Order: sequence, then structure tokens, then C-alpha cells
Amino acid sequence: MSVDPTLNLTNIQGDILSGLPKKTQTYIFFDITNVKKFRSDLRNFIPLIKTVAQVLKDRKAIDDHKKQKLPGLLPIVGVNIAFSHLGFAKLGVDDSTLVDPALGDNDPFKSGQKKDAVTNLGDPVKSAGTPDWEAPFLQDIHGVILISGDSHLNVNKKRLAIELIFGVNTPLASIKEVTSIVGDVRPGDESGHEHFGFLDGISNPVVDGFDTVINPGPKIVQQGVVLTGRPGDNGQGQTTPIPRADWAKDGSFLAFRYLFQQVPEFNQFLKANPIAKDGNGKVLTPEQGSDLLGARMVGRWKSGAPIDITPFQDDPVLAADPKRNNDFKFEGEINSQLRCPFAAHVRKTNPRNDLEVPPSPTPSIPVELRRIMRRGVQFGPEVTKEEATAGKTQHGRGLLFAAYQSSLANGFQFLQHSWANNQNFPPFETQPEQPGLDPLIGQGTRAMSGLDPLNEQKVLAMPAFIIPRGGEYFFSPSLSGLKATIAATA
Ligand code: HEM
Repeated sequence: MSVDPTLNLTNIQGDILSGLPKKTQTYIFFDITNVKKFRSDLRNFIPLIKTVAQVLKDRKAIDDHKKQKLPGLLPIVGVNIAFSHLGFAKLGVDDSTLVDPALGDNDPFKSGQKKDAVTNLGDPVKSAGTPDWEAPFLQDIHGVILISGDSHLNVNKKRLAIELIFGVNTPLASIKEVTSIVGDVRPGDESGHEHFGFLDGISNPVVDGFDTVINPGPKIVQQGVVLTGRPGDNGQGQTTPIPRADWAKDGSFLAFRYLFQQVPEFNQFLKANPIAKDGNGKVLTPEQGSDLLGARMVGRWKSGAPIDITPFQDDPVLAADPKRNNDFKFEGEINSQLRCPFAAHVRKTNPRNDLEVPPSPTPSIPVELRRIMRRGVQFGPEVTKEEATAGKTQHGRGLLFAAYQSSLANGFQFLQHSWANNQNFPPFETQPEQPGLDPLIGQGTRAMSGLDPLNEQKVLAMPAFIIPRGGEYFFSPSLSGLKATIAATA
């Protein structure tokens, strides 16, 4: 398939559609302190931004480098920028067309994540109306600069160049850094795996007119599910396109979450609750039983192989085959948790056929419109021997969760609020048992059924293994939007 000629890949920030290549990534959260100077500094910053077109070239160069088995990594760095609603307000940029008319003041981008965390996301609360977050995320944040690259050295060099442009820490500064966080892909064989050990980044939406390689899997999504101002960007109303100002087209909303993972505690839980027999009645060793428990919580084995295809035994060959590793729909499993629990993380966050096949109640909008483009990276060190032995976290680690979509209310917010946190989801008309919460990200009293394949009704309670400690909603504008409006002289 060829790329849709109306899709201007030099106008779209690279992380959105192609993902900035990264071994390490720095997020700089900033406030704008001098509006006039910021606009002029931004004009000098824009040439540093990697577009989708440039990222595709970088990815091709990386592939060639790998194919030729050349040593080391190519020195590639990519920069993107995004703004919060408070950032646009500070700049005096009218961002009213970023708000879904069907939602008005309740649009999560407008209300900001600090408020949303308490009202919709279910984050633990510190005091009335305030989430239990790290202090910097309780402050106002105007924007975020993402720097991804092959090494700390090259990312830090770029960071210095950027700080120079904005005069950071000098009397001429136009921004103040609120906080910065460094994320790193895990080392060695764990590369690509999140901190619990599961391969991540397998299932992202395939975008119509952009992706040229289409592997079997969930339905292709319209461009407007990810990009604003493109076909399918209809928000909550879903009958007419949201009227976006020109500068607000070809951008995407970025949901950032600072998620801490309790890895030793997670491993202890798996060890303490091994599944005794697989779905065929085969007796499992404690280790096999713990592995199966983890796989049933996630919906995939650590290798990435989906349990819907290979429910009781890992299959690393299948996991590594892009033509097969996403080709499942929970078909034939309506009302059954034998192969995959209803509440398994990947079934909760992408229920595939669960909502389409009778007797499921018809969903308000199709599942494809709720897909999100995930671009996270790990942070924090590997688990130490002391932590593993004690089963207790002593060093902060987790996921810098980042996901792009054209509607936060259809995408991230809905997945967290209405699916992960909802013990009755997925809803079957003749539901045999309550699914329970998403065992990874569900907020509330965590418990789920279906973990034991031979006793689907059995409910297992569990502590919080993932703790949200910050976040914000941003909008990642097009290059033309940045130049014509955001960096324009007032
Ligand atoms: C530390 C937190 C998290 C961890 C460890 C985690 C882990 C994983 C893993 C291992 C997968 C399977 C790999 C794949 O299909 O790509 C996955 C898939 C997914 N996760 Fe998460 N996740 C986390 C947070 C979240 C959050 C906050 C959301 C959204 C609210 C989310 C949404 C998804 C989606 C949409 C998929 C793909 C489902 C599919 O299409 O099959 N995840 N996650």
C-alpha cells in the first residue's frame, strides 16, 4: 500500500505516527516565563523538531545499519514539543477548537489531568481534590519537550542546545523547567520489555493511508482517530467532524502518565498464587503456575505471545512473528474466560470482538475509535538483589506512559475510566461472572475473576502494582501550526 498523498508527513511531529527511535528519552516539563521571547525562541527551536518524514528516514538508516551488522548504534536524536491548555492560555493562543463541542468545559484537555485524575481517572487522593502525585505535577505545566536518542551523551548534547535557545537559567530565559525525567529502555534481553518483564509496544493502531505494511490484527483505523482535522476526527458526537482551526489540524493529543511499578511486589504475588492446573487439567509446577498467572493478568506471555492464541504454553516463535502475534479477537470466547480472562490488561484496553458479537450490548462507538498510539519508555533501575529478596520496592521505577489520540475522551480517559476501572467491563448480556478491574492499571479495589482457567468464577484480590504519580494532557501541533500561530509574533 502507498501513503495517502494528502497526508503531509513533513508537517506532523515524528513521535505521533512513527515513534521517535529511542534507547533513552528525556522529558522536560516547562513553564513559559516570557511570552514574547518564547515565541521568538520557538522559531529557533522549530528546526530541531523531527517530523514523521524524518523519523521514517532515521528508521530506514537504523534498519540498514542492523542489516549490515555494523557495530554500535547510529547517533540519532529526535526532538518533539507539545503544549497543555494552560500553556496555550499563557501564550494567548485561542485553543477553543481543540475542545470537543460535545464536552465543553468537561473536555479533559481543557480541565487538565490534575483535575481529571481525581474526577475520572480514579487516582489515589492526597487531600480533597488533589491527587497523591509528585510535587512538580501538582504545579501548572505549560508544555513538554521530548528528546529521544541512542545515548545519554547525544540526548544531553541536544538538551544543552535547547536550553541555550530558551536561555534556561539565565536572565534571558523564556522558560523555566518544572521538572525533567529520564527514561531508558531496559538493558540486554529485556530491551522492549516493561519492568514486570512483558514485551510491550506490540499492538498499536494501523493507520489508514499511512502504514504500508499491514499485518493481520485489529481493524485499520481512520487517520482522524490519531490526527486532528483528518477523516474520523469526530470526537464524542461522532456525527460531524470537530471544526478545528487550521493551526490545530494534523496534531494529536498526548496523554502523559508518570506510572510507578511495584516490581518485587508483583513478582511476590505471582509466586504466592501459582495456578495449580492449566485449562486442560495438566498439573503445573509452581514456576509454570506463576508464569501462567502473570500471562493471564496481562493477556500475553512475557515473550509477547497472546494467550488468546496460545493459552497454556508460551510460544516465543509466534511472539516474534508480526504476521501472527496480533491476530486474535477473543472469538469463540464470548462468555468464557477459559483462554483469556475478561479483565486481562490487553482485553480491557482493546476488547476487539468482545463488544461486536451478540449477545454483547452494542457499544456507543466502535472499538476502533478508542485506539491509542502508545509511545512509552521505562524509567528507573533494574530490581536489585535486596529488593528481590525482600519482595519490596526500594527504588522508584516504572513507565513513562505516553499515548497519542485525536480525542482524550474517546481514547486514554475512556480506557482508564470506563474500561480498566470498571469491574463490569466487558459487559455480556448473560455475563457468567463479574470481570473485575484491570489487574495492572485498574484504580479501585483490585480483584478479578478468570485467573484460574478451571475455576473461572474464582475471584483473586490483589494490591496496587502500578501507582500513578503525575501526568498532564498536551497537544502536539503540526509544524505549520507551530510556525503560523504558536511562534507567530503577537
Ligand atoms: C505501567 C503501566 C503499564 C504497563 C506495565 C502496561 C503493560 C502492557 C503490556 C505488557 C501490553 C502488551 C503489549 C502490547 O500489546 O503492545 C500492553 C498493551 C496495552 N496497554 Fe498497557 N501497560 C501499562 C499502562 C497502560 C495504560 C495506562 C493504558 C491506557 C489507559 C494502557 C493501554 C494499553 C493498550 C491499549 C494496549 C494494547 C492492547 C491491544 O491492542 O491488544 N496501558 N500494556
